[in-house]
Amino acid sequence: MRIESKIPDVGTSIFTVMSKMALDHNAINLSQGFPDFMIDDAIIQLVHRYMREGHNQYAPMPGAPVLRTVIAEVVRTSFNRAVDPDTEITITSGATESIFSVISAFIGRGDEVIMFDPSYDSYDPSVRLNGGIPIHINMTESFGINWDEVRGRITKATRMIIINTPHNPSGSILSESDLLELENIAEQFDLLVLSDEVYERLIFDGVAHQSVLRFPVLASRSFAVFSFGKTFHATGWKMGYVVAPAQLTAEIRRAHQFVVFSVNTPIQLAMADYLREPGHYRGLGKFYQQKRDFFLNEIKGSSFEPIPSRGSYFQLVSYRTISSEPDVQMAERLTKEFKVASIPISVFYKDSTDRNILRFCFAKKEETLAEAGRILRGL
Ligand SMILES: Cc1ncc(COP(=O)(O)O)c(C=O)c1O
Repeated sequence: MRIESKIPDVGTSIFTVMSKMALDHNAINLSQGFPDFMIDDAIIQLVHRYMREGHNQYAPMPGAPVLRTVIAEVVRTSFNRAVDPDTEITITSGATESIFSVISAFIGRGDEVIMFDPSYDSYDPSVRLNGGIPIHINMTESFGINWDEVRGRITKATRMIIINTPHNPSGSILSESDLLELENIAEQFDLLVLSDEVYERLIFDGVAHQSVLRFPVLASRSFAVFSFGKTFHATGWKMGYVVAPAQLTAEIRRAHQFVVFSVNTPIQLAMADYLREPGHYRGLGKFYQQKRDFFLNEIKGSSFEPIPSRGSYFQLVSYRTISSEPDVQMAERLTKEFKVASIPISVFYKDSTDRNILRFCFAKKEETLAEAGRILRGL
């Protein structure tokens, strides 16, 4: 049998590799982005209740109406934007499926899609699986976007720009002026914008999240992608949603219905109840800011140099005063010899840029962070 891989260069993701290495070497796992603490028992009770009440069959293809209605209210109060739950919101199997369905619906052979490195690992293969051409632009030294460079890279084939704020892996955020620049560019060159906002609630130091949904002109050509996995500490439940104007949503659903058809029913119903209470997500920035600060305090006095994290649950640190070895090697050594697993950020770059920086996930219990800090201070 002749097999021709469409994405032959794609191997096992670094997250799987590092998590396995952490397990094999009994290391503290600050590599993959997931919490190591329990989710709120109230959501578990709700899921349980809906299962027992018999809500165990297919949900409607775009998502449970009750959940979409609550999401519309959240979008209105959070971003001052009215969206129609029937035609502008689709519940997906995690943000990953939103991203894949959007790209499948709109990107075809030869379409160019601009993305910024370091970039989340699903964007590039999703574009290529659909015949598109990823155009990687490196972020600036401080993990911002040089919009003049973006203008210079746009061609007749450019169809979409993907942004991610708060940003994985760097923890940087886009400002209002960034979004206004993007709005200008998207309008001028008639581009679509895929805005990955899974860390919308994990934003620190009193700064407001700049969603594309806050900007009416930009929102008219954008897909805003969110994840309950991040917001409610339940990454394993794989539930997210995408908000886009009706015309665009109709196309997303054409893809979505053949990727998963619909997302699991009892969790959608439980999320609808849970999301009705703003207290369940409003305090999240403070909660994770405390964890960031706790971790920073734990590594104070070590030779690792933190790079400011303004959002997400990641903290970058430079180890350039400790070693000049490549970041992949450093991450491996740190896991095997010192028992703390991290992610080398060169893997998020198409050109493997290596600035001797590692990413640590601080979505962990204080005892986990304290133990990691003790080891890192000793290096
Ligand atoms: C930037 C970014 N986008 C998307 C995702 C995927 O989210 P989900 O688990 O909801 O599919 C992640 C998960 O780590 C992420 O960091």
